[in-house]
Parts: sequence; structure tokens; C-alpha cells
Amino acid sequence: MSRPVFRQSSGQINVTFPLETSYAATTTIVNGRHHSFDHRKHLALDRVMRQLDRLVGLQNVKDFVYEIYAWLYITQCRRELGLKASHQTLHMVFKGHPGTGKTTVARILGKLFQEMGVLSKGHLVEVERADLVGEYIGHTAQKTRDLVRKALGGILFIDEAYSLARGGSKDFGKEAVDCLVKAMEDHKDEFVLILAGYPSEMDYFLRSNPGLPSRFPIQLEFKNYTVHELLSIAEIMVEDREYQLSPQAKQKIKQLLYDQMREKNNNFSNARFVRNLIEKAIREHAVRLLHHSYNTKDDLMILSAQDIVAFEQNQ
Ligand SMILES: Nc1ncnc2c1ncn2[C@@H]1O[C@H](COP(=O)(O)OP(=O)(O)OP(=O)(O)O)[C@@H](O)[C@H]1O
Ligand SMILES: [Mg+2]
Repeated sequence: MSRPVFRQSSGQINVTFPLETSYAATTTIVNGRHHSFDHRKHLALDRVMRQLDRLVGLQNVKDFVYEIYAWLYITQCRRELGLKASHQTLHMVFKGHPGTGKTTVARILGKLFQEMGVLSKGHLVEVERADLVGEYIGHTAQKTRDLVRKALGGILFIDEAYSLARGGSKDFGKEAVDCLVKAMEDHKDEFVLILAGYPSEMDYFLRSNPGLPSRFPIQLEFKNYTVHELLSIAEIMVEDREYQLSPQAKQKIKQLLYDQMREKNNNFSNARFVRNLIEKAIREHAVRLLHHSYNTKDDLMILSAQDIVAFEQNQ
């Protein structure tokens, strides 16, 4: 990361930043709101914003990352000048349905925290109830402690965290929660804990554990994507894999998305559904080409409506 250099002359403080790249001076990321920064000074932010820009929507998440970077950076600048470097709890709750980008964002945050020196490694340890909860007394504490140890220097991400409240006070899930709370105190600043799950279940979980909300001051909402956003996600996924969608294939995907939303009452796996659909289409395309041979590079790249129909038939 680019470190600022402070010089003091005649009562004035000048801050200069060493140039590390030959980027243009200033960039503005416009995404509903303006995120302006000089990306020569803020290489870590530049890197993270580039990754976030590949993600469709999620404006509140992008705003949050920008805010957290600004706070970390200014805290460093204050520390350099001997001012108090305030401490903030970075444990978080991610509320959202499946496939709304929670794991993807947690991974990006891990890297940012590592670059900013908040975490030493920035890796992500993703677990769920079964990984934490044991079968006999003492087993849960052991399993939970082992996972916390594995996550030290990085992020411990607990998917469907609300399931730890299942079964009430006699359930070992409660023991896992108690053990996590203790680990947050014993290993303060050594790892970041992210609890993730469906919005209503997470609200209930937090309400039923009065000690928890104050330990998780940051709560991010991951909204269900619109059909328009899911189509853009499909296009990004296809582009990343060096394929293209024919106009008819796009139309077919759009129809499928509307059908899914109607049938599942919005409770479907969002971008994960799109990823599965694209991966299936790529396999169908391969089988089609194997049977009928191909002539051009375009043939090897273009996914047609036929390939998408095949996915629909498998649902
Ligand atoms: N906004 C987005 N733009 C582009 N791709 C996305 C976006 N959100 C998610 N994806 C992609 O969709 C897939 C699923 O995302 P991810 O695993 O992060 O979701 P999740 O919320 O963790 O889901 P789950 O609750 O099922 O674990 C990944 O391949 C991810 O890259
Ligand atoms: Mg996930």
C-alpha cells in the first residue's frame, strides 16, 4: 500500500504520497453515488473497487467498503501524526437470501483487511452449524475453538448462523455461540467474525441473543437481485468464461428468471441459480458441438437458446 509521507514546515503539515504506478491522477467511480479518490494514493482501495465493480448492484455494500477503507486510511494517517487511532469492532452480520453475493463480498473484505494491516492473512474460513456443533458435552467447544484457531488472521464466516439458535437453550448451538463470544474477547482484533443468513431468521437470532447485537455493529443487507441485475450477472459470467449469449438465449434466460421468481415467490438462489444455469448451458453447448461439429470461432463461443432450454428441462 502507498504510505503517506508527512512533512512539517512553519506550522503547516504537508502530506505527500509516493507514486507507485503510472495511473492517471484521479478516478471517479460512479455507481449511483460518487466514489472519488486518487488511485495512485489508494492502491488497496483501487484494487478492491475494481473487484467490486465486477459485481452487479450491491450499492450499499460498495458504499460500506468505501467508508471502511476511508476510516482505516485516515486512522493510519492520524496514528502517523501521534493522534488517537480509534478502535472499531469489525464483526458483521450479512443478511440475505442464497446467492446474493455474501461469500464473494466476505472474501473481498478479507483481502482489503489484510492489505490495510487489520488482519495478518485475510483468508476466509467458511463454516456452518454442523462444523461447529458437536455430539456430546465439550465436543462443541472443542470444534468451535479449532475453527476459530484456523480463522485467526482472517475471517470466520458462519453461514446460516441463525441455525445455532435451533433447539433452544439445551441445544449445543448455544454452546457454540457462547464459545464464539468468548473467542471474540480472547482474540480481539485477531479475526473478524461474519454471521450470515436469511434476513428474518437473522433478525430473530439476534433478538433472541440480547448480548449479540452490540457485538455486531455492522449489519449489511444483501437484497434479492432483480431480473435485470441477474441478466447482467449472466452476461458477466459468460464473458468471464469467454462465451457469448445469443439474443434468443438472453430472452430465454429472462423468461426462466421470471418463471423462477413467480414459482418460488422470490425464494430462489439468485446469482447461484444463474451460475448453475450458465454452467449447464456450457455443457449442453459442448455436447451440441460434439454431435454436429463446428465451423467457426463464434460457434465455439455462442450459447444459443437451445442450450438454455436444456437447463429448463432439467429443473
Ligand atoms: N452482484 C454479483 N455480480 C456478479 N456475480 C455475482 C454477484 N453476486 C453473486 N455473484 C456470483 O454468484 C455466485 C454465488 O454468490 P455467493 O456464493 O457469493 O453468494 P452467497 O450469498 O454466499 O450464497 P449462499 O448463501 O448460497 O452461500 C458466485 O459465483 C458469485 O460470484
Ligand atoms: Mg455463501
